[in-house]
Amino acid sequence: MEVRARAPGKIILAGEHAVVHGSAAVAASIGLYTSVLLHLPSPEDNDDALTLHLMDVDLKFSWPIGRIKEILPHSVNNSASSPTTCCEETIKLILAVLEDSKKLESKIGIASGVVAFLWLYTSILGNKAAKVTVSSDLPLGSGLGSSAAFCVSLSGALLALSGSVEVDFDREGWVSFGEKEQQLANKWAFEGEKIIHGKPSGIDNTVSTFGNLIKFKSGVLTCIKSNMTLKMLITNTKVGRNTKALVAGVSERKKRHPDAMTSVFTAVDFISNEFASIIQSSSFSDDDDVIKKEQNIKELMEMNQGLLKCMGVSHASIETVVQTTVKYGLTSKLTGAGGGGCVITLLPALLSSAVIGKVIEELEQCGFQCLIAEIGGNGLEFR
Ligand code: MEV
Repeated sequence: MEVRARAPGKIILAGEHAVVHGSAAVAASIGLYTSVLLHLPSPEDNDDALTLHLMDVDLKFSWPIGRIKEILPHSVNNSASSPTTCCEETIKLILAVLEDSKKLESKIGIASGVVAFLWLYTSILGNKAAKVTVSSDLPLGSGLGSSAAFCVSLSGALLALSGSVEVDFDREGWVSFGEKEQQLANKWAFEGEKIIHGKPSGIDNTVSTFGNLIKFKSGVLTCIKSNMTLKMLITNTKVGRNTKALVAGVSERKKRHPDAMTSVFTAVDFISNEFASIIQSSSFSDDDDVIKKEQNIKELMEMNQGLLKCMGVSHASIETVVQTTVKYGLTSKLTGAGGGGCVITLLPALLSSAVIGKVIEELEQCGFQCLIAEIGGNGLEFR
């Protein structure tokens, strides 16, 4: 018996970090996916191991199913909340396994992902043997929601085979989950995200589960029906960083300067709300109207990037992208946790492909990687 589930990555158009402190944020799914293949052996296979194969980093883990209780004591005894307190010890164990993989840049990220995997697996499927294979189009730890896409696709695959949600396996191609199933997968994925990131807002797993464009505030999701084709260039600075540390850094700054930081978060809330209402507004009568709206979005992005600098999460590589694109009259901001990672640049509807080509060439000469992904597609799907 097997199922494959996939979930998309995301870009945050406005409001990252501030969303952790209660401000609104706007995010969109992107057409890059993480996919999980979950295979349950039949009883005659006599398989008593849980195997995890992370294809992109070429790592394989295998645990006798009876030993997982020892590795994650809290997971089996208390599945009501994720085991943030027992993770440190487990991460050390997994880091020891990763010790040989000298080339792996984000060992801690992978180790906490493996802990999230074990916890979600045992909490949803119990102690069944299985082979789980994970592959992804998303660069790891770069702000495009790779961990959320992992937690969402894994939760979806586990729920599909646990019998706790109804799924129709007879349909052809990728199929979306029903709303109840999506809610459940999102809830589990959020627990996984907490293991990986400490105190996430939940925006990454929510947009990965439900797809499309969303506004997210204090755990509440509002779907945005965009009346505007937003085209974004995504530049990966390839500077690695740690979301958990960056989120904690912003909270520390808030503790030191509560009034100033509260004002920063309030300003971001206004920016996100205005961003959402511009893309929803239906009055795109002519080219001039589109240009005016794009101009407003550019200003909002510029202000948001300034406020992210105030939060201390920009980086020299991000500023290089901002300054390079501004030479072509374009506006960029970091997306996700910052500190490196990815930057988005609005590509206006009337911008020529020759200019886009030149910008990409210049960014690539700086050692960055550029991509133009489709935004606002489906969320969690299975087949
Ligand atoms: C990370 O993609 C977005 C942050 O706002 C963290 C979060 O919301 O959980 C930086």
